[in-house]
Amino acid sequence: MNAQPTDQSAGVRAAEKAAGEQPVLRRRDVPGAPEDALPLRGIAYIELYVGNARQAAHFYRTAFGFDVVAYAGPETGVRDRASYVLRQGGVRLILTAGLGPASPIAEHARIHGDGVHDVAFLVDDAAVAYAVTTGRGAKGIKPPTVERNADGLVVRATVAAYGDTVHTFVANDGYRGAFLPGYRARLIPGPRVGLHQIDHVVANVELGKMNEWVDYYARIFGFGQLVHFDDKDISTEYSALMSKVMQDGDGRIKLPINEPATGRKKSQIQEYLDYYQGPGVQHIALLTDDIVATVRALGTHGVEFLRTPGAYYDALPGRIGTIDENLAELRELGVLADRDDEGYLLQIFTRPVQDRPTLFFEVIQRKGSRGFGKGNFKALFEAIEQEQARRGNL
Ligand code: FE2
Repeated sequence: MNAQPTDQSAGVRAAEKAAGEQPVLRRRDVPGAPEDALPLRGIAYIELYVGNARQAAHFYRTAFGFDVVAYAGPETGVRDRASYVLRQGGVRLILTAGLGPASPIAEHARIHGDGVHDVAFLVDDAAVAYAVTTGRGAKGIKPPTVERNADGLVVRATVAAYGDTVHTFVANDGYRGAFLPGYRARLIPGPRVGLHQIDHVVANVELGKMNEWVDYYARIFGFGQLVHFDDKDISTEYSALMSKVMQDGDGRIKLPINEPATGRKKSQIQEYLDYYQGPGVQHIALLTDDIVATVRALGTHGVEFLRTPGAYYDALPGRIGTIDENLAELRELGVLADRDDEGYLLQIFTRPVQDRPTLFFEVIQRKGSRGFGKGNFKALFEAIEQEQARRGNL
């Protein structure tokens, strides 16, 4: 997030209201939750494990406008993997592939397809973050490890999250080299599309597991619950889901958690779980300051977006009131809009970015609203279901 006010109470209250008066669960309200916030400074990077990192880097660069900025692999002394670091504004993606059949990275890609393995948090002290979270019950994956070269040092430590997803704590204060030790600068610029920050990262978990993971983020990381959407909010004729939005104490990191709910047919969350072979990251929302320009640019570069039924735009003026954007342009591009007490937001969702109907991206522009587009859920999910039906999974 960009500059966040330290007092979020007004925003939280509005979000609460927008979410149907669901009380916001703050850290102090969570039984057993620690008093102190684990100070997370933001999302350091998101690492995807993919089948072919070189080709994935080309896709994310040419289609989504990322610059390739660093590389690690056999040429830089890393024997078991190839990793490309992509940057756009404050967003960093790492695309990593294993280099042999015994590689756990290749195994991750075999089971899940291309997908997010690590949502890494920037911290002041990775060893402290690891000690605190494992002390609170997180499963340790990799204890604090110092990576060092002539450019300085970085400390990283990793704990488990949902499914095979992990959170790495990264403390890289003052490291002067390209990204991390083991990486070499390698600049291949992408086209400018105007994405600049991660807004939120959404998890899909199994039926009945949402509250378990809500508790996990409250207990282990000291996150609070921002809003809650139940199956009355997010349901269509066919399928339903439930969602709770967890965020860190400063509101820099927002992690909504979805679980399938029972509908007449298979929930889109269940379709994800079936194809991903378990819980994982459903979508990554990226901020822009000009969604019309960004979506036009992404479309030109080949990004495919979900189409929104025309009826949505017929009803939109009544729902959204006056906005700065041209409604005809929003309709043409398929951009959705939603309003709450604080303002409005504009958002659009891509189709899945790999063969399996798993990970996709959201492009979002906030004009005052800190919500998640509750008023769009129904329209959005009907659009997703049209695609699901086309795949024979509805
Ligand atoms: Fe989202």
